[in-house]
Amino acid sequence: MRLNNRVAIVTGAGAGIGKAIALRYACEGAKVVVAEINAETGQATADEIRSLKQEATFVRTDVAEESDVRRMVETAFERYGRVDLGRCAPGGIDGDGAERPFGNSKGPRRSGGFPSIG
Ligand SMILES: NC(=O)c1ccc[n+]([C@@H]2O[C@H](COP(=O)([O-])OP(=O)(O)OC[C@H]3O[C@@H](n4cnc5c(N)ncnc54)[C@H](O)[C@@H]3O)[C@@H](O)[C@H]2O)c1
Repeated sequence: MRLNNRVAIVTGAGAGIGKAIALRYACEGAKVVVAEINAETGQATADEIRSLKQEATFVRTDVAEESDVRRMVETAFERYGRVDLGRCAPGGIDGDGAERPFGNSKGPRRSGGFPSIG
């Protein structure tokens, strides 16, 4: 497994591309922080990863909210002590989101400022 002992944060991991990335990272051995605005689907992805005997932690995260993103990263470090990989599934380029990295309550729900790393 190519990602043994690596820690990954995947946003939008409750569905679609983000979920597929989270499962793939887990299958490659990574510990996955499942960050998702929808608590039900986010928790389901984390449960699915654990059913594969891999490690996952769900953190309810709206990537448009700076405080949520901070908590997401803090949780990753508290739980696993490091972050090696990050993938952002809900993009930060919709509408005027690119000009307001963390948006506000009137902004598009999919805007966000968490960059892909790794
Ligand atoms: N599917 C494609 O073919 C495709 C192609 C190009 C670009 N994209 C872009 O990639 C991104 C993901 O596409 P998808 O098909 O996987 O979408 P999807 O709707 O299947 O999944 C997106 C996930 O992100 C979550 N999400 C939405 N807003 C969020 C927020 N503010 N904070 C945290 N989580 C949030 C949703 O709840 C959902 O679980 C989108 O931005 C889409 O525009 C998709």
